[in-house]
Amino acid sequence: MAAMSSDKILIVDDDRNLLELVKMRLEAANYDVATALKEEDAIEAVKKQVFDLSIIDLQLIHRDGISLMEELHLINPEMSVIILTAHGSIESAVEAMKKGAYNYLTKPFDPRDLLLQIQKALENRKLASEVKRLKGLLEERYSFDNIVAKSDKMKRVLEVVSRIAGTDSTVYILGESGTGKEMIAKAVHLASARKDKEFVAINCVVISETLLESELFGHEKGAFTGAVRTTKGLFTQAHEGTLFLDEIGDMPLSIQPKLLRVLQDRQFYPIGGERPTDVDVRVIVATKKDLEEEVKKGLFREDLYYRIHVIPIHLPPLRERKEDIPHLIEQFLRKFAEPMKKDVKGVTPPAMQKLMLHDWPGNVRELENTIEYAMAMTQKDVIDEDLVLQTKLTSQEPRTISLQEASAMSQEALKPLKEARDAFEKSYLVHLLQLSEGNVSQAAKLAGKYRADFYDLLKKHDLKVDDFKKAK
Ligand SMILES: Nc1ncnc2c1ncn2[C@@H]1O[C@H](COP(=O)(O)OP(=O)(O)OP(=O)(O)O)[C@@H](O)[C@H]1O
Ligand SMILES: [Mg+2]
Repeated sequence: MAAMSSDKILIVDDDRNLLELVKMRLEAANYDVATALKEEDAIEAVKKQVFDLSIIDLQLIHRDGISLMEELHLINPEMSVIILTAHGSIESAVEAMKKGAYNYLTKPFDPRDLLLQIQKALENRKLASEVKRLKGLLEERYSFDNIVAKSDKMKRVLEVVSRIAGTDSTVYILGESGTGKEMIAKAVHLASARKDKEFVAINCVVISETLLESELFGHEKGAFTGAVRTTKGLFTQAHEGTLFLDEIGDMPLSIQPKLLRVLQDRQFYPIGGERPTDVDVRVIVATKKDLEEEVKKGLFREDLYYRIHVIPIHLPPLRERKEDIPHLIEQFLRKFAEPMKKDVKGVTPPAMQKLMLHDWPGNVRELENTIEYAMAMTQKDVIDEDLVLQTKLTSQEPRTISLQEASAMSQEALKPLKEARDAFEKSYLVHLLQLSEGNVSQAAKLAGKYRADFYDLLKKHDLKVDDFKKAK
């Protein structure tokens, strides 16, 4: 029959007789007991075995019991300690408790008191670790709290996330735009032991080759023109944390070998640096394109592909998991309630039907934008069908402007600042009035302006509210 595991107790005292006596008592009470006459023996014992509790004499020969306790706690922080004190010197006993002892007993003590104190200390310890465990569970749940996953497909995704979060393996997230790739990357980070360190994200598309390399790995002063001071890269910033490489498929071929090397050796050379830097970073990558195709076309290194394709997570498009839509809507109504200071209870049945029938090329992000817009516009506590998926906003994925486009635009229309600002202001006002159909209070609210100031703006640009009211 397997023996029940009993609690392990270490007694440290320079009085051999007392040591033997207490050992016998405790063994009679079914504890697993070890003894140490000298401080060094106590330290050795705690290094070798995990004790649940230690009883330490305050007046040892070579050092005081408090400093020994502190040293032992550096090895096993969760071990409970009961202090024995010979002269009833309450002061040092109190000091010991401040520094982490559970309780103290004054010699000579009643053995029954000792047993009682031990029992209490052990119970307290179990309670503390249970509280910690529950807290951990709550935190774990919390990191998934805002993620809607009612469909089987998304449930499976979260299952994989919670199963692999604790490992350091590279995660490869594949999904169309707006499916939640970055959100899942963060969830992996938050559910891992790295959660208190940094989550650093970088998009591999937007920046130039040199800039991307220097962003990732840092550079020494003078490594290239413009490198006026030594800069640490994102790999260093993410040390002991997580680095999220978005749109990995767009990483230039020239940088790929360097990434491969960090993943293999956990080491890299900053640009212009002579000595390698060691890092401990968990890497998560995301992509919209199937990289296997890119590999075939010679646009992505095969060896790197296999290095990053360790734990693949495929995020299904929203049209393949429409049962998530009502829950996502609820989530977004909650999300925007506070910043918009609006309590919208739901969408009307016809609006819901429209939302369910839509194909969602922009996936969850498109749905989120649709709800945000409708919430901003509605004057009721529900969302009507005419506020969702008007042709203007729909079927086209909401876009952000790329750097190239932005600079092309600014070159083409390079006006003096004041003129440009006025032009922008006017078109902004026109847009607001169109959206609100000439409702000034609503338009002013959306613009974050007082009504009076808003009227001043309209006057400045010679805009007439009536022009925007719908013909009855
Ligand atoms: N399952 C979900 N539950 C709740 N919110 C979600 C869910 N999926 C996505 N979102 C929200 O949708 C928005 C888009 O998600 P995210 O930015 O993670 O997508 P993405 O795949 O990285 O998009 P892109 O390809 O455009 O970079 C975010 O605001 C995110 O919080
Ligand atoms: Mg993204």
